Amino acid sequence: QDTFDLVIAANRLPVDRVREGGRSVWRRSPGGLVTAMESVMSGRDGAWIGWSGVPGKAPAAFEQGGMSLHPVALSAEEVRDYYEGFSNASLWPLYHDVIVPPTFRRRWQSAYDGVNRRFAETAAGLAAKNATVWVHDYQLQQVPQLLRELRPDLRIGWFNHIPFPPVELFMQLPARDAMLRGLLGADFLGFQRRTDAQNFLRACRQLLVDDDISVKADVVHAPDGHECRAAAVPISIDTAGMAELAETSGVQERAAEIRKQLGNPEHLLLGIDRLDYTKGIRHRLKALEEMYREGTLDPTETKFIQVATPSRERLDAYQHIKSEVEQTVGRINGEHAIFGAPPVTYLHRSFPREEMAAMFVAADVMLVTPLRDGMNLVAKEYVAAHDHSGALVLSEFTGAANELKQSYLCNPHDIARTKRTITRAIEASPEERARRMRAMHRQVQRHDVQHWAERFLSNLAAAPRQP
Ligand code: G6P
Repeated sequence: QDTFDLVIAANRLPVDRVREGGRSVWRRSPGGLVTAMESVMSGRDGAWIGWSGVPGKAPAAFEQGGMSLHPVALSAEEVRDYYEGFSNASLWPLYHDVIVPPTFRRRWQSAYDGVNRRFAETAAGLAAKNATVWVHDYQLQQVPQLLRELRPDLRIGWFNHIPFPPVELFMQLPARDAMLRGLLGADFLGFQRRTDAQNFLRACRQLLVDDDISVKADVVHAPDGHECRAAAVPISIDTAGMAELAETSGVQERAAEIRKQLGNPEHLLLGIDRLDYTKGIRHRLKALEEMYREGTLDPTETKFIQVATPSRERLDAYQHIKSEVEQTVGRINGEHAIFGAPPVTYLHRSFPREEMAAMFVAADVMLVTPLRDGMNLVAKEYVAAHDHSGALVLSEFTGAANELKQSYLCNPHDIARTKRTITRAIEASPEERARRMRAMHRQVQRHDVQHWAERFLSNLAAAPRQP
Protein backbone atom coordinates (compact mmCIF):
# COMPACT_ATOMS: atom_id res chain seq x y z
CA GLN A 1 0.00 0.00 0.00
CA ASP A 2 1.11 3.60 -0.74
CA THR A 3 2.04 5.78 2.20
CA PHE A 4 1.76 9.57 2.51
CA ASP A 5 3.65 12.43 4.15
CA LEU A 6 0.43 14.21 5.03
CA VAL A 7 -2.67 12.37 6.22
CA ILE A 8 -5.94 14.12 7.09
CA ALA A 9 -8.34 12.36 9.44
CA ALA A 10 -11.82 13.87 9.65
CA ASN A 11 -15.17 12.25 10.38
CA ARG A 12 -16.32 13.00 6.85
CA LEU A 13 -14.61 12.75 3.51
CA PRO A 14 -14.84 15.91 1.38
CA VAL A 15 -17.53 14.09 -0.60
CA ASP A 16 -20.66 12.32 0.54
CA ARG A 17 -22.27 9.21 -0.89
CA VAL A 18 -25.88 10.14 -1.70
CA ARG A 19 -28.69 8.62 -3.74
CA GLU A 20 -29.73 10.63 -6.76
CA GLY A 21 -32.26 9.42 -9.30
CA GLY A 22 -32.05 5.84 -8.04
CA ARG A 23 -28.25 5.53 -8.01
CA SER A 24 -25.41 6.36 -5.63
CA VAL A 25 -23.22 9.35 -6.49
CA TRP A 26 -20.55 11.40 -4.67
CA ARG A 27 -21.53 14.92 -3.71
CA ARG A 28 -19.67 17.65 -1.78
CA SER A 29 -20.10 17.18 2.00
CA PRO A 30 -21.85 19.85 4.10
CA GLY A 31 -20.24 22.18 6.63
CA GLY A 32 -17.35 24.51 7.20
CA LEU A 33 -14.69 21.85 7.76
CA VAL A 34 -14.91 20.60 4.20
CA THR A 35 -15.19 24.14 2.77
CA ALA A 36 -11.82 24.96 4.32
CA MET A 37 -9.91 21.69 3.97
CA GLU A 38 -10.88 21.01 0.38
CA SER A 39 -8.95 24.00 -0.91
CA VAL A 40 -6.03 23.41 1.46
CA MET A 41 -5.56 19.85 0.30
CA SER A 42 -5.96 20.29 -3.43
CA GLY A 43 -2.51 20.05 -4.95
CA ARG A 44 -0.87 18.68 -1.79
CA ASP A 45 -0.51 14.99 -2.65
CA GLY A 46 -1.90 13.74 0.66
CA ALA A 47 -4.42 11.21 1.90
CA TRP A 48 -7.77 11.97 3.53
CA ILE A 49 -9.54 9.38 5.65
CA GLY A 50 -13.19 9.76 6.58
CA TRP A 51 -16.69 8.34 6.54
CA SER A 52 -18.74 8.26 3.31
CA GLY A 53 -21.93 9.46 5.02
CA VAL A 54 -23.78 6.13 4.72
CA PRO A 55 -23.67 3.11 7.06
CA GLY A 56 -22.24 -0.20 5.92
CA LYS A 57 -19.24 -1.43 4.03
CA ALA A 58 -16.71 1.22 3.01
CA PRO A 59 -16.20 1.90 -0.71
CA ALA A 60 -12.63 1.30 -1.98
CA ALA A 61 -10.06 4.10 -1.83
CA PHE A 62 -10.11 6.50 -4.79
CA GLU A 63 -8.41 9.60 -6.16
CA GLN A 64 -10.05 13.00 -6.33
CA GLY A 65 -8.68 16.50 -6.77
CA GLY A 66 -5.11 15.24 -6.45
CA MET A 67 -5.93 13.61 -3.12
CA SER A 68 -6.20 9.97 -2.17
CA LEU A 69 -9.53 9.43 -0.40
CA HIS A 70 -9.86 6.48 2.02
CA PRO A 71 -13.38 5.74 3.22
CA VAL A 72 -13.72 4.39 6.79
CA ALA A 73 -16.70 2.07 7.42
CA LEU A 74 -19.30 2.83 10.09
CA SER A 75 -21.98 0.29 10.94
CA ALA A 76 -25.59 1.41 11.46
CA GLU A 77 -25.10 1.08 15.26
CA GLU A 78 -21.93 3.16 15.06
CA VAL A 79 -23.73 5.86 13.10
CA ARG A 80 -26.36 5.90 15.85
CA ASP A 81 -24.02 5.71 18.86
CA TYR A 82 -20.76 7.34 17.75
CA TYR A 83 -22.02 9.93 15.22
CA GLU A 84 -25.59 10.81 16.21
CA GLY A 85 -25.15 9.91 19.88
CA PHE A 86 -21.79 10.76 21.41
CA SER A 87 -20.63 13.26 18.76
CA ASN A 88 -23.85 15.11 18.03
CA ALA A 89 -26.10 14.61 21.06
CA SER A 90 -23.40 14.78 23.80
CA LEU A 91 -20.37 16.73 22.53
CA TRP A 92 -21.96 19.11 20.00
CA PRO A 93 -24.50 20.70 22.38
CA LEU A 94 -22.06 20.61 25.32
CA TYR A 95 -19.33 22.38 23.34
CA HIS A 96 -21.86 24.95 22.07
CA ASP A 97 -22.70 26.24 25.54
CA VAL A 98 -25.56 23.75 26.15
CA ILE A 99 -27.98 25.65 23.88
CA VAL A 100 -29.94 22.41 24.06
CA PRO A 101 -29.26 20.02 26.94
CA PRO A 102 -26.64 17.40 26.08
CA THR A 103 -27.56 13.74 26.53
CA PHE A 104 -25.02 11.31 27.99
CA ARG A 105 -25.31 7.54 27.43
CA ARG A 106 -22.70 5.05 28.54
CA ARG A 107 -23.03 2.83 25.51
CA TRP A 108 -22.31 5.72 23.16
CA GLN A 109 -18.84 6.08 24.62
CA SER A 110 -17.66 2.61 23.66
CA ALA A 111 -18.85 3.17 20.08
CA TYR A 112 -16.93 6.48 20.05
CA ASP A 113 -13.78 4.74 21.33
CA GLY A 114 -14.15 1.95 18.78
CA VAL A 115 -14.58 4.28 15.80
CA ASN A 116 -11.71 6.49 16.98
CA ARG A 117 -9.51 3.38 17.15
CA ARG A 118 -10.47 2.49 13.56
CA PHE A 119 -9.50 5.97 12.38
CA ALA A 120 -6.19 5.77 14.27
CA GLU A 121 -5.39 2.36 12.76
CA THR A 122 -6.26 3.53 9.26
CA ALA A 123 -4.09 6.63 9.66
CA ALA A 124 -1.24 4.53 11.09
CA GLY A 125 -1.38 2.32 8.00
CA LEU A 126 -1.29 5.21 5.53
CA ALA A 127 1.31 7.49 7.11
CA ALA A 128 4.88 7.33 5.83
CA LYS A 129 7.76 7.29 8.34
CA ASN A 130 7.86 10.60 10.31
CA ALA A 131 4.78 11.79 8.42
CA THR A 132 2.34 14.42 9.63
CA VAL A 133 -1.18 13.39 10.59
CA TRP A 134 -3.69 16.20 10.92
CA VAL A 135 -6.78 15.15 12.89
CA HIS A 136 -9.97 17.23 12.79
CA ASP A 137 -12.77 18.11 15.14
CA TYR A 138 -14.74 16.84 18.11
CA GLN A 139 -15.67 13.48 16.55
CA LEU A 140 -12.04 12.30 16.76
CA GLN A 141 -10.68 13.43 20.12
CA GLN A 142 -9.24 9.99 21.02
CA VAL A 143 -7.31 9.63 17.77
CA PRO A 144 -4.16 11.60 18.77
CA GLN A 145 -3.40 9.37 21.79
CA LEU A 146 -4.31 6.10 20.04
CA LEU A 147 -2.20 7.06 17.06
CA ARG A 148 0.78 8.04 19.20
CA GLU A 149 0.71 4.57 20.79
CA LEU A 150 0.69 2.93 17.35
CA ARG A 151 3.16 5.28 15.65
CA PRO A 152 5.41 7.31 17.98
CA ASP A 153 7.40 8.53 14.95
CA LEU A 154 4.51 10.66 13.61
CA ARG A 155 3.86 14.34 14.08
CA ILE A 156 0.28 14.59 15.23
CA GLY A 157 -1.85 17.73 15.14
CA TRP A 158 -5.53 18.25 15.93
CA PHE A 159 -7.71 21.19 15.02
CA ASN A 160 -11.03 21.94 16.69
CA HIS A 161 -13.50 23.51 14.28
CA ILE A 162 -16.03 24.17 17.02
CA PRO A 163 -15.75 26.00 20.36
CA PHE A 164 -14.08 24.41 23.38
CA PRO A 165 -16.38 25.15 26.32
CA PRO A 166 -15.55 26.73 29.68
CA VAL A 167 -14.47 24.14 32.25
CA GLU A 168 -17.66 24.69 34.28
CA LEU A 169 -19.62 23.22 31.34
CA PHE A 170 -17.00 20.75 30.09
CA MET A 171 -16.96 19.18 33.58
CA GLN A 172 -20.42 17.74 32.94
CA LEU A 173 -19.03 15.26 30.44
CA PRO A 174 -18.69 11.82 32.05
CA ALA A 175 -15.85 11.00 29.63
CA ARG A 176 -14.05 14.29 30.29
CA ASP A 177 -10.72 12.79 31.42
CA ALA A 178 -10.61 10.42 28.45
CA MET A 179 -11.31 13.31 26.04
CA LEU A 180 -8.49 15.43 27.49
CA ARG A 181 -6.03 12.53 27.59
CA GLY A 182 -6.94 11.54 24.06
CA LEU A 183 -6.07 15.03 22.81
CA LEU A 184 -2.82 15.18 24.76
CA GLY A 185 -1.41 12.53 22.42
CA ALA A 186 -1.01 15.34 19.84
CA ASP A 187 2.07 17.55 19.50
CA PHE A 188 -0.02 20.59 18.68
CA LEU A 189 -3.68 21.44 19.25
CA GLY A 190 -5.23 24.27 17.27
CA PHE A 191 -8.35 26.17 18.36
CA GLN A 192 -10.47 28.89 16.76
CA ARG A 193 -10.09 31.49 19.50
CA ARG A 194 -7.67 32.18 22.34
CA THR A 195 -10.54 31.59 24.73
CA ASP A 196 -11.01 28.06 23.36
CA ALA A 197 -7.31 27.22 23.85
CA GLN A 198 -7.43 28.70 27.34
CA ASN A 199 -10.58 26.74 28.19
CA PHE A 200 -8.80 23.55 27.15
CA LEU A 201 -5.65 24.35 29.18
CA ARG A 202 -7.73 25.27 32.19
CA ALA A 203 -9.65 21.98 31.92
CA CYS A 204 -6.34 20.06 31.92
CA ARG A 205 -5.04 22.02 34.91
CA GLN A 206 -8.22 21.61 36.88
CA LEU A 207 -9.37 18.11 35.97
CA LEU A 208 -6.18 16.09 35.43
CA VAL A 209 -4.63 16.84 38.82
CA ASP A 210 -4.00 13.23 39.82
CA ASP A 211 -2.40 12.34 36.54
CA ASP A 212 1.02 13.75 37.05
CA ILE A 213 0.35 16.23 34.27
CA SER A 214 1.60 19.78 34.51
CA VAL A 215 0.53 22.80 32.52
CA LYS A 216 3.00 25.65 31.98
CA ALA A 217 1.72 28.58 29.92
CA ASP A 218 0.37 27.01 26.71
CA VAL A 219 2.14 23.64 27.03
CA VAL A 220 0.90 20.50 28.76
CA HIS A 221 3.65 18.16 29.99
CA ALA A 222 2.76 14.47 30.19
CA PRO A 223 4.51 12.05 32.57
CA ASP A 224 6.28 10.29 29.67
CA GLY A 225 8.07 13.52 28.76
CA HIS A 226 5.78 14.25 25.81
CA GLU A 227 4.69 17.85 25.39
CA CYS A 228 1.52 19.14 23.78
CA ARG A 229 1.04 22.80 22.89
CA ALA A 230 -2.35 24.50 22.50
CA ALA A 231 -2.90 27.78 20.66
CA ALA A 232 -5.42 29.75 18.62
CA VAL A 233 -5.14 29.42 14.83
CA PRO A 234 -8.44 30.77 13.44
CA ILE A 235 -9.63 29.07 10.26
CA SER A 236 -10.53 30.88 7.06
CA ILE A 237 -11.70 30.46 3.47
CA ASP A 238 -10.35 30.49 -0.07
CA THR A 239 -10.81 34.25 -0.31
CA ALA A 240 -9.40 34.73 -3.81
CA GLY A 241 -11.45 31.78 -5.10
CA MET A 242 -14.70 33.24 -3.77
CA ALA A 243 -13.83 36.78 -4.92
CA GLU A 244 -13.08 35.55 -8.44
CA LEU A 245 -16.21 33.44 -8.57
CA ALA A 246 -18.31 36.42 -7.45
CA GLU A 247 -16.92 38.51 -10.29
CA THR A 248 -17.66 36.06 -13.07
CA SER A 249 -20.37 37.17 -15.47
CA GLY A 250 -22.36 34.00 -14.78
CA VAL A 251 -22.59 34.79 -11.07
CA GLN A 252 -23.22 38.51 -11.63
CA GLU A 253 -26.04 37.76 -14.06
CA ARG A 254 -27.54 35.17 -11.77
CA ALA A 255 -27.40 37.66 -8.87
CA ALA A 256 -29.36 40.21 -10.92
CA GLU A 257 -31.81 37.49 -11.91
CA ILE A 258 -32.39 36.48 -8.27
CA ARG A 259 -33.25 40.07 -7.40
CA LYS A 260 -35.55 40.28 -10.37
CA GLN A 261 -37.29 37.03 -9.46
CA LEU A 262 -37.95 38.52 -6.02
CA GLY A 263 -39.54 41.60 -7.61
CA ASN A 264 -36.42 43.84 -7.41
CA PRO A 265 -36.76 44.59 -3.71
CA GLU A 266 -35.20 47.73 -2.31
CA HIS A 267 -33.42 45.68 0.35
CA LEU A 268 -32.50 42.02 0.11
CA LEU A 269 -31.48 40.26 3.32
CA LEU A 270 -29.86 36.82 3.39
CA GLY A 271 -29.17 34.00 5.84
CA ILE A 272 -27.29 30.81 4.90
CA ASP A 273 -26.82 28.12 7.53
CA ARG A 274 -26.90 24.41 8.17
CA LEU A 275 -30.27 23.86 9.82
CA ASP A 276 -28.81 23.69 13.32
CA TYR A 277 -30.09 25.07 16.65
CA THR A 278 -26.69 26.74 17.22
CA LYS A 279 -27.21 29.06 14.25
CA GLY A 280 -29.81 31.36 15.82
CA ILE A 281 -32.21 31.06 12.87
CA ARG A 282 -35.21 31.15 15.19
CA HIS A 283 -34.00 34.33 16.90
CA ARG A 284 -33.28 35.95 13.52
CA LEU A 285 -36.79 35.13 12.27
CA LYS A 286 -38.33 36.45 15.47
CA ALA A 287 -36.56 39.78 15.00
CA LEU A 288 -37.69 40.00 11.35
CA GLU A 289 -41.24 38.96 12.20
CA GLU A 290 -41.51 41.79 14.72
CA MET A 291 -40.05 44.25 12.24
CA TYR A 292 -42.56 43.27 9.54
CA ARG A 293 -45.38 43.49 12.08
CA GLU A 294 -44.38 46.87 13.43
CA GLY A 295 -43.79 48.26 9.97
CA THR A 296 -40.05 48.90 10.43
CA LEU A 297 -39.69 46.59 7.44
CA ASP A 298 -42.06 46.86 4.52
CA PRO A 299 -42.78 43.34 3.25
CA THR A 300 -43.00 44.55 -0.34
CA GLU A 301 -39.70 46.44 -0.21
CA THR A 302 -37.60 44.19 1.99
CA LYS A 303 -37.24 40.50 1.19
CA PHE A 304 -35.40 37.85 3.13
CA ILE A 305 -33.87 34.64 1.76
CA GLN A 306 -33.11 31.91 4.29
CA VAL A 307 -31.15 28.92 3.04
CA ALA A 308 -31.19 26.12 5.61
CA THR A 309 -29.10 23.14 4.53
CA PRO A 310 -30.55 19.87 5.86
CA SER A 311 -28.41 18.46 8.68
CA ARG A 312 -28.43 15.50 11.16
CA GLU A 313 -32.07 14.97 10.40
CA ARG A 314 -32.64 11.89 12.52
CA LEU A 315 -31.88 13.72 15.78
CA ASP A 316 -34.80 15.09 17.82
CA ALA A 317 -33.23 18.48 18.42
CA TYR A 318 -32.82 18.95 14.65
CA GLN A 319 -36.39 17.88 13.86
CA HIS A 320 -37.53 20.30 16.50
CA ILE A 321 -35.64 23.32 15.14
CA LYS A 322 -36.80 22.43 11.63
CA SER A 323 -40.46 22.52 12.57
CA GLU A 324 -40.03 25.73 14.58
CA VAL A 325 -38.35 27.45 11.65
CA GLU A 326 -40.99 26.19 9.22
CA GLN A 327 -43.81 27.38 11.46
CA THR A 328 -42.32 30.83 11.87
CA VAL A 329 -41.65 31.25 8.14
CA GLY A 330 -45.20 30.10 7.44
CA ARG A 331 -46.60 32.57 9.94
CA ILE A 332 -44.59 35.52 8.59
CA ASN A 333 -45.53 34.74 5.00
CA GLY A 334 -49.14 34.06 5.94
CA GLU A 335 -49.40 37.47 7.53
CA HIS A 336 -47.48 39.55 5.02
CA ALA A 337 -47.39 37.89 1.59
CA ILE A 338 -49.15 39.40 -1.37
CA PHE A 339 -49.88 37.32 -4.47
CA GLY A 340 -46.70 35.76 -5.78
CA ALA A 341 -44.52 37.76 -3.39
CA PRO A 342 -43.91 36.37 0.10
CA PRO A 343 -41.43 38.37 2.19
CA VAL A 344 -39.46 35.24 3.18
CA THR A 345 -38.05 32.76 0.68
CA TYR A 346 -37.17 29.65 2.64
CA LEU A 347 -34.94 27.09 0.89
CA HIS A 348 -34.43 23.82 2.76
CA ARG A 349 -31.76 22.27 0.55
CA SER A 350 -28.16 22.68 -0.46
CA PHE A 351 -26.91 24.65 -3.45
CA PRO A 352 -23.84 24.57 -5.67
CA ARG A 353 -21.11 27.12 -4.93
CA GLU A 354 -22.05 29.27 -7.95
CA GLU A 355 -25.61 29.72 -6.71
CA MET A 356 -24.37 30.53 -3.18
CA ALA A 357 -21.98 33.12 -4.64
CA ALA A 358 -24.88 34.64 -6.62
CA MET A 359 -26.93 34.93 -3.43
CA PHE A 360 -23.99 36.60 -1.64
CA VAL A 361 -23.61 39.08 -4.49
CA ALA A 362 -27.35 39.76 -4.63
CA ALA A 363 -27.77 40.40 -0.89
CA ASP A 364 -27.57 43.92 0.56
CA VAL A 365 -27.39 42.64 4.12
CA MET A 366 -26.12 39.27 5.34
CA LEU A 367 -27.50 38.05 8.67
CA VAL A 368 -25.16 35.71 10.57
CA THR A 369 -26.61 35.41 14.05
CA PRO A 370 -25.54 32.14 15.74
CA LEU A 371 -25.99 31.65 19.47
CA ARG A 372 -22.57 30.01 19.40
CA ASP A 373 -20.30 29.17 16.47
CA GLY A 374 -16.64 28.11 16.38
CA MET A 375 -15.89 30.44 13.46
CA ASN A 376 -18.67 30.76 10.79
CA LEU A 377 -17.15 30.66 7.34
CA VAL A 378 -20.33 31.92 5.65
CA ALA A 379 -19.65 35.35 7.17
CA LYS A 380 -16.16 35.32 5.64
CA GLU A 381 -17.48 34.12 2.28
CA TYR A 382 -19.95 36.99 2.12
CA VAL A 383 -17.13 39.43 2.83
CA ALA A 384 -14.95 37.79 0.18
CA ALA A 385 -17.74 38.20 -2.39
CA HIS A 386 -18.00 41.97 -1.71
CA ASP A 387 -15.27 44.56 -1.64
CA HIS A 388 -17.17 47.80 -1.13
CA SER A 389 -20.89 47.03 -1.04
CA GLY A 390 -23.13 45.04 1.25
CA ALA A 391 -23.31 44.89 5.04
CA LEU A 392 -22.75 42.09 7.53
CA VAL A 393 -24.77 41.69 10.72
CA LEU A 394 -22.73 39.31 12.87
CA SER A 395 -23.31 37.65 16.22
CA GLU A 396 -20.80 38.36 18.99
CA PHE A 397 -20.91 34.63 19.75
CA THR A 398 -19.03 33.57 16.62
CA GLY A 399 -15.28 33.12 16.21
CA ALA A 400 -15.57 35.38 13.13
CA ALA A 401 -16.57 38.33 15.36
CA ASN A 402 -12.98 38.45 16.68
CA GLU A 403 -11.75 39.24 13.18
CA LEU A 404 -14.61 41.00 11.37
CA LYS A 405 -14.70 43.99 13.68
CA GLN A 406 -16.30 46.33 11.12
CA SER A 407 -19.42 44.20 10.91
CA TYR A 408 -22.62 45.24 12.65
CA LEU A 409 -22.16 43.18 15.80
CA CYS A 410 -25.19 41.94 17.67
CA ASN A 411 -26.27 39.81 20.60
CA PRO A 412 -28.88 37.50 19.02
CA HIS A 413 -30.56 36.94 22.40
CA ASP A 414 -31.32 40.66 22.60
CA ILE A 415 -34.09 40.83 20.02
CA ALA A 416 -34.79 44.55 20.54
CA ARG A 417 -31.20 45.58 19.84
CA THR A 418 -30.78 43.06 17.05
CA LYS A 419 -33.72 44.75 15.33
CA ARG A 420 -32.04 48.16 15.69
CA THR A 421 -28.79 46.70 14.38
CA ILE A 422 -30.54 45.25 11.30
CA THR A 423 -32.13 48.66 10.69
CA ARG A 424 -28.74 50.38 10.97
CA ALA A 425 -27.23 47.93 8.49
CA ILE A 426 -30.10 48.46 6.04
CA GLU A 427 -30.00 52.23 6.31
CA ALA A 428 -26.22 52.72 6.29
CA SER A 429 -24.91 55.11 3.64
CA PRO A 430 -22.97 53.68 0.70
CA GLU A 431 -19.85 55.37 2.11
CA GLU A 432 -20.21 53.71 5.48
CA ARG A 433 -20.83 50.32 3.89
CA ALA A 434 -17.82 50.72 1.63
CA ARG A 435 -15.55 51.73 4.51
CA ARG A 436 -16.60 48.77 6.64
CA MET A 437 -16.57 46.22 3.83
CA ARG A 438 -13.16 47.28 2.51
CA ALA A 439 -11.59 46.81 5.92
CA MET A 440 -13.17 43.38 6.37
CA HIS A 441 -12.32 42.33 2.83
CA ARG A 442 -8.65 43.16 3.47
CA GLN A 443 -8.75 41.13 6.67
CA VAL A 444 -10.00 37.96 4.92
CA GLN A 445 -7.64 38.55 2.01
CA ARG A 446 -4.64 38.62 4.33
CA HIS A 447 -5.89 35.77 6.49
CA ASP A 448 -7.14 33.21 4.02
CA VAL A 449 -7.30 29.45 4.34
CA GLN A 450 -3.82 28.87 2.92
CA HIS A 451 -2.41 31.24 5.52
CA TRP A 452 -4.32 29.28 8.18
CA ALA A 453 -3.05 25.89 7.00
CA GLU A 454 0.53 27.14 6.84
CA ARG A 455 0.25 28.55 10.33
CA PHE A 456 -1.19 25.32 11.67
CA LEU A 457 1.41 23.14 9.98
CA SER A 458 4.33 25.35 10.99
CA ASN A 459 3.15 25.34 14.60
CA LEU A 460 2.97 21.57 14.37
CA ALA A 461 6.40 21.31 12.75
CA ALA A 462 7.89 23.51 15.49
CA ALA A 463 6.55 21.32 18.29
CA PRO A 464 9.34 19.65 20.23
CA ARG A 465 9.79 15.93 19.45
CA GLN A 466 9.34 13.26 22.05
CA PRO A 467 12.71 12.57 23.72
C1 G6P B 1 -19.52 21.41 11.42
C2 G6P B 1 -18.50 20.48 12.05
C3 G6P B 1 -17.97 19.49 11.05
C4 G6P B 1 -19.14 18.79 10.35
C5 G6P B 1 -20.10 19.79 9.75
C6 G6P B 1 -21.32 19.14 9.10
O1 G6P B 1 -18.90 22.25 10.49
O2 G6P B 1 -17.43 21.24 12.62
O3 G6P B 1 -17.16 18.53 11.69
O4 G6P B 1 -18.67 17.91 9.37
O5 G6P B 1 -20.54 20.66 10.77
O6 G6P B 1 -21.95 18.30 10.01
P1 G6P B 1 -22.13 16.74 9.72
O7 G6P B 1 -22.58 16.15 11.02
O8 G6P B 1 -23.12 16.66 8.64
O9 G6P B 1 -20.78 16.22 9.31
